[in-house]
Amino acid sequence: MSAKKKNRNPAETIVKEEGKVAANLIPIYIMGKRYEVPEGLTIMKAIEYAGYKFIRGCGCRGGTCGACGTVYRKPGDYKLQVALACQKTVEPDMYMAQIPFFPANRARYEFAELTSAPEEVFKLYPELFRCVACNACTKICPQGIEVMDAISALKQGNIAESARLSFDCIQCGLCTSRCFGESVQYHMFQLARRIYGAKIIPEAEHLAEMVKVINKGKYEEILEKLKSMGEEELRELYEEREIEPVTTGEDWRPKDKSCL
Ligand code: FES
Repeated sequence: MSAKKKNRNPAETIVKEEGKVAANLIPIYIMGKRYEVPEGLTIMKAIEYAGYKFIRGCGCRGGTCGACGTVYRKPGDYKLQVALACQKTVEPDMYMAQIPFFPANRARYEFAELTSAPEEVFKLYPELFRCVACNACTKICPQGIEVMDAISALKQGNIAESARLSFDCIQCGLCTSRCFGESVQYHMFQLARRIYGAKIIPEAEHLAEMVKVINKGKYEEILEKLKSMGEEELRELYEEREIEPVTTGEDWRPKDKSCL
Protein backbone atom coordinates (compact mmCIF):
# COMPACT_ATOMS: atom_id res chain seq x y z
CA MET A 1 0.00 0.00 0.00
CA SER A 2 1.39 3.37 -0.93
CA ALA A 3 1.45 6.17 1.62
CA LYS A 4 0.60 8.52 -1.21
CA LYS A 5 -2.85 9.92 -0.49
CA LYS A 6 -5.40 11.72 -2.53
CA ASN A 7 -6.63 14.86 -0.83
CA ARG A 8 -10.33 14.43 -0.26
CA ASN A 9 -12.93 14.29 2.42
CA PRO A 10 -14.70 10.90 2.37
CA ALA A 11 -18.03 12.26 3.58
CA GLU A 12 -18.07 14.93 0.89
CA THR A 13 -17.29 12.33 -1.74
CA ILE A 14 -20.38 10.32 -0.95
CA VAL A 15 -22.71 13.29 -0.95
CA LYS A 16 -21.26 15.34 -3.78
CA GLU A 17 -20.11 12.71 -6.26
CA GLU A 18 -23.13 10.47 -6.05
CA GLY A 19 -25.75 13.07 -5.15
CA LYS A 20 -26.99 11.14 -2.12
CA VAL A 21 -25.71 9.50 1.02
CA ALA A 22 -25.05 5.91 -0.08
CA ALA A 23 -24.11 4.39 3.24
CA ASN A 24 -23.44 5.13 6.87
CA LEU A 25 -19.90 6.17 7.61
CA ILE A 26 -17.98 4.35 10.29
CA PRO A 27 -14.61 5.24 11.84
CA ILE A 28 -11.62 2.97 11.22
CA TYR A 29 -7.89 3.44 11.90
CA ILE A 30 -5.39 2.69 9.16
CA MET A 31 -1.87 2.48 10.56
CA GLY A 32 -3.02 4.60 13.48
CA LYS A 33 -4.79 7.36 11.53
CA ARG A 34 -8.53 7.81 11.78
CA TYR A 35 -10.76 7.74 8.68
CA GLU A 36 -14.47 7.54 8.10
CA VAL A 37 -15.53 5.03 5.49
CA PRO A 38 -18.88 3.58 4.34
CA GLU A 39 -19.88 0.49 6.28
CA GLY A 40 -20.05 -2.70 4.27
CA LEU A 41 -16.80 -2.09 2.40
CA THR A 42 -14.06 -4.68 2.49
CA ILE A 43 -10.90 -3.58 4.28
CA MET A 44 -9.25 -3.28 0.87
CA LYS A 45 -11.95 -1.04 -0.54
CA ALA A 46 -12.05 0.99 2.67
CA ILE A 47 -8.31 1.62 2.46
CA GLU A 48 -8.74 2.77 -1.13
CA TYR A 49 -11.74 4.86 -0.15
CA ALA A 50 -9.57 6.57 2.45
CA GLY A 51 -7.35 7.66 -0.41
CA TYR A 52 -4.52 5.12 -0.47
CA LYS A 53 -3.38 3.41 -3.61
CA PHE A 54 -2.20 -0.21 -3.49
CA ILE A 55 1.15 -0.85 -5.10
CA ARG A 56 1.75 -3.96 -2.93
CA GLY A 57 -0.53 -6.12 -0.84
CA CYS A 58 -3.24 -6.50 -3.45
CA GLY A 59 -3.56 -9.08 -6.17
CA CYS A 60 -6.62 -11.10 -7.12
CA ARG A 61 -9.15 -9.23 -4.94
CA GLY A 62 -10.94 -12.54 -4.72
CA GLY A 63 -9.40 -14.38 -1.77
CA THR A 64 -7.06 -16.62 -3.71
CA CYS A 65 -3.65 -14.96 -4.11
CA GLY A 66 -2.79 -14.33 -0.45
CA ALA A 67 -1.30 -10.90 -1.10
CA CYS A 68 -3.48 -8.94 1.30
CA GLY A 69 -2.85 -10.34 4.79
CA THR A 70 -4.04 -7.82 7.37
CA VAL A 71 -3.87 -7.66 11.15
CA TYR A 72 -6.45 -5.77 13.14
CA ARG A 73 -7.69 -5.26 16.64
CA LYS A 74 -11.15 -4.23 17.77
CA PRO A 75 -11.72 -1.78 20.63
CA GLY A 76 -11.63 -3.37 24.06
CA ASP A 77 -10.38 -6.68 22.70
CA TYR A 78 -6.90 -7.86 23.66
CA LYS A 79 -6.87 -10.28 20.76
CA LEU A 80 -5.01 -9.48 17.58
CA GLN A 81 -7.02 -10.78 14.64
CA VAL A 82 -6.15 -11.43 11.03
CA ALA A 83 -8.00 -11.39 7.76
CA LEU A 84 -7.61 -11.04 4.04
CA ALA A 85 -8.23 -7.39 3.22
CA CYS A 86 -10.18 -8.30 0.09
CA GLN A 87 -12.59 -10.53 2.03
CA LYS A 88 -13.17 -9.02 5.45
CA THR A 89 -15.56 -6.09 5.80
CA VAL A 90 -14.69 -3.16 8.06
CA GLU A 91 -16.13 -2.80 11.53
CA PRO A 92 -16.38 0.38 13.61
CA ASP A 93 -13.14 1.43 15.32
CA MET A 94 -11.02 -1.33 13.84
CA TYR A 95 -7.30 -0.64 14.09
CA MET A 96 -5.55 -2.23 11.15
CA ALA A 97 -2.28 -2.63 9.29
CA GLN A 98 -1.32 -4.82 6.39
CA ILE A 99 1.37 -7.48 6.21
CA PRO A 100 1.59 -7.82 2.46
CA PHE A 101 4.99 -9.48 2.55
CA PHE A 102 6.69 -11.50 5.25
CA PRO A 103 10.46 -11.91 4.83
CA ALA A 104 10.56 -15.67 5.37
CA ASN A 105 13.21 -18.17 4.39
CA ARG A 106 12.45 -20.02 1.19
CA ALA A 107 14.59 -23.03 0.34
CA ARG A 108 16.11 -23.24 -3.13
CA TYR A 109 16.02 -26.57 -4.93
CA GLU A 110 16.04 -28.17 -8.36
CA PHE A 111 12.63 -29.72 -8.34
CA ALA A 112 13.46 -32.27 -11.04
CA GLU A 113 16.23 -33.66 -8.84
CA LEU A 114 13.97 -34.24 -5.84
CA THR A 115 12.35 -37.59 -5.17
CA SER A 116 9.43 -38.07 -2.81
CA ALA A 117 11.71 -38.97 0.10
CA PRO A 118 10.68 -37.02 3.24
CA GLU A 119 14.37 -36.67 4.18
CA GLU A 120 14.78 -34.24 1.31
CA VAL A 121 12.11 -31.97 2.78
CA PHE A 122 13.76 -32.28 6.21
CA LYS A 123 17.06 -31.21 4.72
CA LEU A 124 15.60 -28.25 2.87
CA TYR A 125 13.56 -27.08 5.84
CA PRO A 126 15.26 -28.26 9.06
CA GLU A 127 13.29 -25.61 10.98
CA LEU A 128 10.33 -27.96 10.56
CA PHE A 129 11.51 -29.65 13.75
CA ARG A 130 11.49 -26.42 15.72
CA CYS A 131 7.69 -26.68 15.92
CA VAL A 132 6.59 -26.69 19.57
CA ALA A 133 2.98 -27.54 18.71
CA CYS A 134 1.62 -24.27 20.14
CA ASN A 135 -1.00 -24.14 17.37
CA ALA A 136 -0.64 -20.35 16.90
CA CYS A 137 -0.31 -21.01 13.16
CA THR A 138 -3.71 -22.72 13.01
CA LYS A 139 -5.38 -19.96 14.99
CA ILE A 140 -4.12 -17.22 12.70
CA CYS A 141 -4.84 -18.91 9.36
CA PRO A 142 -7.49 -16.91 7.47
CA GLN A 143 -8.24 -19.99 5.39
CA GLY A 144 -9.16 -22.14 8.38
CA ILE A 145 -6.43 -24.67 7.63
CA GLU A 146 -5.28 -27.03 10.37
CA VAL A 147 -1.76 -25.71 9.91
CA MET A 148 -0.20 -27.46 12.89
CA ASP A 149 -1.65 -30.82 11.83
CA ALA A 150 -0.23 -30.34 8.34
CA ILE A 151 3.16 -29.58 9.91
CA SER A 152 2.89 -32.69 12.11
CA ALA A 153 2.16 -34.80 9.06
CA LEU A 154 5.23 -33.41 7.34
CA LYS A 155 7.39 -34.10 10.41
CA GLN A 156 6.19 -37.70 10.26
CA GLY A 157 7.22 -37.87 6.62
CA ASN A 158 3.63 -37.99 5.39
CA ILE A 159 3.93 -35.62 2.45
CA ALA A 160 0.60 -36.69 0.96
CA GLU A 161 -1.32 -35.86 4.14
CA SER A 162 0.47 -32.52 4.52
CA ALA A 163 -0.43 -31.68 0.92
CA ARG A 164 -4.04 -32.69 1.50
CA LEU A 165 -4.42 -30.68 4.69
CA SER A 166 -2.79 -27.58 3.23
CA PHE A 167 -4.64 -27.68 -0.07
CA ASP A 168 -6.42 -24.35 0.58
CA CYS A 169 -3.21 -22.48 1.51
CA ILE A 170 -2.92 -19.23 -0.42
CA GLN A 171 0.60 -18.37 0.75
CA CYS A 172 -0.33 -15.26 2.74
CA GLY A 173 2.45 -16.01 5.25
CA LEU A 174 0.46 -15.08 8.35
CA CYS A 175 1.23 -18.49 9.95
CA THR A 176 4.92 -17.74 9.73
CA SER A 177 4.44 -14.29 11.23
CA ARG A 178 3.20 -15.92 14.48
CA CYS A 179 5.53 -18.95 14.63
CA PHE A 180 7.72 -19.29 17.74
CA GLY A 181 9.85 -21.84 15.92
CA GLU A 182 10.56 -19.53 12.96
CA SER A 183 9.04 -22.11 10.65
CA VAL A 184 7.91 -21.23 7.16
CA GLN A 185 4.82 -23.35 7.00
CA TYR A 186 3.46 -21.95 3.77
CA HIS A 187 6.66 -22.60 1.80
CA MET A 188 6.96 -26.08 3.28
CA PHE A 189 3.38 -26.85 2.27
CA GLN A 190 3.98 -25.59 -1.22
CA LEU A 191 6.89 -27.99 -1.54
CA ALA A 192 4.76 -30.84 -0.14
CA ARG A 193 2.01 -30.16 -2.68
CA ARG A 194 4.50 -29.96 -5.54
CA ILE A 195 6.07 -33.27 -4.58
CA TYR A 196 2.67 -34.87 -4.07
CA GLY A 197 1.33 -33.69 -7.41
CA ALA A 198 4.40 -34.54 -9.45
CA LYS A 199 5.97 -37.53 -7.72
CA ILE A 200 3.48 -39.33 -5.47
CA ILE A 201 0.03 -39.58 -7.06
CA PRO A 202 -0.06 -41.88 -10.07
CA GLU A 203 -0.18 -40.19 -13.43
CA ALA A 204 -3.75 -39.87 -14.71
CA GLU A 205 -4.31 -42.34 -17.52
CA HIS A 206 -6.57 -40.03 -19.51
CA LEU A 207 -3.92 -37.31 -19.35
CA ALA A 208 -1.23 -39.65 -20.69
CA GLU A 209 -3.62 -40.65 -23.49
CA MET A 210 -4.28 -37.02 -24.35
CA VAL A 211 -0.58 -36.19 -24.44
CA LYS A 212 -0.08 -39.04 -26.92
CA VAL A 213 -2.87 -37.70 -29.11
CA ILE A 214 -1.37 -34.19 -29.04
CA ASN A 215 2.10 -35.51 -29.85
CA LYS A 216 0.66 -37.34 -32.86
CA GLY A 217 -0.32 -33.93 -34.24
CA LYS A 218 -4.09 -34.07 -33.99
CA TYR A 219 -4.35 -30.35 -33.26
CA GLU A 220 -1.62 -29.02 -35.54
CA GLU A 221 -4.01 -28.01 -38.30
CA ILE A 222 -6.44 -26.08 -36.09
CA LEU A 223 -3.54 -24.41 -34.27
CA GLU A 224 -2.02 -23.26 -37.56
CA LYS A 225 -5.42 -21.94 -38.64
CA LEU A 226 -5.82 -19.98 -35.39
CA LYS A 227 -2.30 -18.59 -35.65
CA SER A 228 -3.03 -17.27 -39.12
CA MET A 229 -6.13 -15.31 -38.01
CA GLY A 230 -6.14 -11.62 -37.28
CA GLU A 231 -7.29 -10.10 -34.00
CA GLU A 232 -10.79 -9.29 -35.23
CA GLU A 233 -11.38 -12.77 -36.57
CA LEU A 234 -10.11 -14.34 -33.36
CA ARG A 235 -12.30 -12.07 -31.28
CA GLU A 236 -15.35 -12.99 -33.34
CA LEU A 237 -14.60 -16.68 -33.04
CA TYR A 238 -14.19 -16.31 -29.29
CA GLU A 239 -17.42 -14.41 -28.85
CA GLU A 240 -19.41 -16.87 -30.94
CA ARG A 241 -18.05 -19.94 -29.19
CA GLU A 242 -20.47 -22.43 -27.71
CA ILE A 243 -20.52 -21.92 -23.97
CA GLU A 244 -21.16 -24.71 -21.50
CA PRO A 245 -24.56 -24.10 -19.83
CA VAL A 246 -24.39 -23.12 -16.16
CA THR A 247 -26.44 -26.15 -15.17
CA THR A 248 -25.17 -29.22 -16.93
CA GLY A 249 -23.70 -32.61 -16.18
CA GLU A 250 -20.08 -33.68 -16.48
CA ASP A 251 -20.81 -35.39 -19.78
CA TRP A 252 -21.61 -32.12 -21.59
CA ARG A 253 -19.81 -31.76 -24.93
CA PRO A 254 -20.01 -28.96 -27.53
CA LYS A 255 -21.87 -29.63 -30.75
CA ASP A 256 -18.74 -28.96 -32.79
CA LYS A 257 -16.35 -31.70 -31.72
CA SER A 258 -13.65 -30.95 -34.24
CA CYS A 259 -11.33 -29.66 -31.50
CA LEU A 260 -11.92 -32.46 -29.03
S1 FES B 1 -6.01 -9.70 -2.99
FE1 FES B 1 -5.68 -11.82 -3.40
S2 FES B 1 -6.32 -12.76 -1.55
FE2 FES B 1 -6.81 -10.69 -1.23
